[in-house]
Amino acid sequence: MHILHSITQHLFLAVLLHIHTTFSFPVQELETLQPNLQLNYTTAEAGNPFIGGWYADPDTAIYDDLYWIYPTSSLPYEQQTFLDAFSSADLITWTKHPNILTIDNVKWAKKAVWAPAPAFVNGKYYLYFGANDIQEGEPEKGLIGGIGVAVSDHPYGPYIDAIGKPLIGEYHNKAQPIDQDVFIDDDGQAYIYYGGHEHANVAKLNPDMISLGTFSDNTTFKEITPDKYVEGSQMIKRNGKYYFMWSEGGWTGPDYAVAYAIADSPLGPFNTRGRILQQDSAIAKGSGHNGVIRVPGTEIYYITYHRRPLTETDRNHRVLCYDRMYFNPDGTIANVNMLVKDNFADGDFVGWKTDGGEWKVVDKRLQVDAKLGSAAFAVQDTNFTDVAFEATVQLSAGNNETESAGLVFKVKDATKGVAGFSGYYVGLAPSGIVKLETFEAGVRTNYTSVSARIETTVDIRVCIQAIGENIRVFVGDSDQPKISVEGASLVNGTTGVATFGAGAQFGNVSLSKP
Ligand SMILES: *[C@@H]1O[C@H](CO)[C@@H](O)[C@H](O)[C@H]1NC(C)=O
Ligand SMILES: *[C@@H]1O[C@H](CO)[C@@H](O)[C@H](O)[C@H]1NC(C)=O
Ligand SMILES: *[C@@H]1O[C@H](CO)[C@@H](O)[C@H](O)[C@H]1NC(C)=O
Ligand SMILES: *[C@@H]1O[C@H](CO)[C@@H](O)[C@H](O)[C@H]1NC(C)=O
Ligand SMILES: *[C@@H]1O[C@H](CO)[C@@H](O)[C@H](O)[C@H]1NC(C)=O
Ligand SMILES: *[C@@H]1O[C@H](CO)[C@@H](O)[C@H](O)[C@H]1NC(C)=O
Ligand SMILES: *[C@@H]1O[C@H](CO)[C@@H](O)[C@H](O)[C@H]1NC(C)=O
Repeated sequence: MHILHSITQHLFLAVLLHIHTTFSFPVQELETLQPNLQLNYTTAEAGNPFIGGWYADPDTAIYDDLYWIYPTSSLPYEQQTFLDAFSSADLITWTKHPNILTIDNVKWAKKAVWAPAPAFVNGKYYLYFGANDIQEGEPEKGLIGGIGVAVSDHPYGPYIDAIGKPLIGEYHNKAQPIDQDVFIDDDGQAYIYYGGHEHANVAKLNPDMISLGTFSDNTTFKEITPDKYVEGSQMIKRNGKYYFMWSEGGWTGPDYAVAYAIADSPLGPFNTRGRILQQDSAIAKGSGHNGVIRVPGTEIYYITYHRRPLTETDRNHRVLCYDRMYFNPDGTIANVNMLVKDNFADGDFVGWKTDGGEWKVVDKRLQVDAKLGSAAFAVQDTNFTDVAFEATVQLSAGNNETESAGLVFKVKDATKGVAGFSGYYVGLAPSGIVKLETFEAGVRTNYTSVSARIETTVDIRVCIQAIGENIRVFVGDSDQPKISVEGASLVNGTTGVATFGAGAQFGNVSLSKP
């Protein structure tokens, strides 16, 4: 904000005095501050998960004008032998950097390479990581593992072990040496916050970033465990306050969640304020292990985290998501709402499952080809009871005029495909019909239909409000429902887009609880 303000002042003076002013601000900040890069989103507008594949524990950095995500590879422990990273200028399209760190470059690491934490100091990129999932008593038996530190000349690696052994290889204060975050305070002092097994410690990092310092009482580790702490330390500073964040609950369970504390000192005390991110039975479960992105020079914050799609059961099926994180005027953090949107601006439709048809993203729309008399759908993994569901539907030119395309909701048995699902369908037909149909195990029944002006090759906004037994359908800009029915009996289920023979494109999908 200060930088933005002073830029505005400079420009103002420059115009006023008719002089040329040379700015001395770092290019990085100027670029990021340009309005089109201000990245003022409500959520991952191109859809959560914002990155495909199974990953967890996303920590963040801003390097070279790019946002970076450093996650755990979500695989069985024995296969967790590498880390990938992702970079983006706009938080929408991401470049994958595979194998930025592998156990080939960390001799003592065998498995369970976890929760990388990035830091940049004196021209070097550091990555702190856990490895080997060491248990209490094991270091005494000669087993090696814990928190390591690797270094590189580039944000994308390769990261090479800096000290040939763990930086923290034993239990202190009952904290498992995993899940570290590295935080550098305004005075340049670096701290490492870490700990699993329900205990958290903080230690100082020396200026070399590869050895630990001591506190004024000569101790190295200070226990800071907040009430209900489990793992996943994360520290940020805002307006002089220290926000310590962590995860609660079991990582394999649905109630994994993020909580936080605020302190006046980097060493605490950290009094638990409660949870800010948790599962939502309509959207996802196991939402936890967070990172934070602040858009430089703004008060725009995102929380990055992993979560589990509702119907997935593999314990490693964790996916990367972000949502907006708002601070209240009193400095507390507002509860994070996981939002469901997809504007397909990333050219992809990660998280959607299809049955039938040929689906691809074309020009920021999810497109399905026409196939006379044949049905296809692309569904999400949501479970809304009451739902407001908006999207655009564009019918291709030359469709058979009785064929239709539109939106499905309160879908159950989506895994049985378009021939076997149950749910509701709102379809637009080029003959000028908007219809609401009920599907029961794939068998369709006309619920109601009305005539409407349906042009082809234009995006038509469709909004469905399904509240209790009432379904209302809005088409185009009108705030009068085209369809309004009472007595709808299907209660809950997932959402998606569908075609019954028509070629169509779908855009700007947005779901919420009305
Ligand atoms: C972000 O966009 C919203 C809605 O358009 C607007 O009200 C808000 O002021 C913007 N915030 C910033 C920091 O630009
Ligand atoms: C810390 O250690 C130093 C050097 O061993 C010693 O001089 C000093 O008295 C110790 N301070 C405390 C508070 O124990
Ligand atoms: C449209 O398709 C239906 C079958 O889905 C067919 O009965 C009808 O003749 C077709 N109409 C035109 C104009 O092609
Ligand atoms: C969907 O939510 C309902 C409650 O509204 C619940 O009974 C049902 O088990 C949920 N289904 C899934 C797949 O989570
Ligand atoms: C569907 O049902 C409505 C109301 O029952 C009726 O007006 C309409 O003609 C039917 N449409 C079709 C295509 O059968
Ligand atoms: C929601 O749908 C599920 C099936 O997906 C069903 O088992 C459950 O009973 C429904 N919930 C309610 C509250 O009816
Ligand atoms: C989606 O919304 C954006 C922002 O309002 C708009 O510019 C774009 O044209 C919309 N796309 C579609 C397919 O409706």
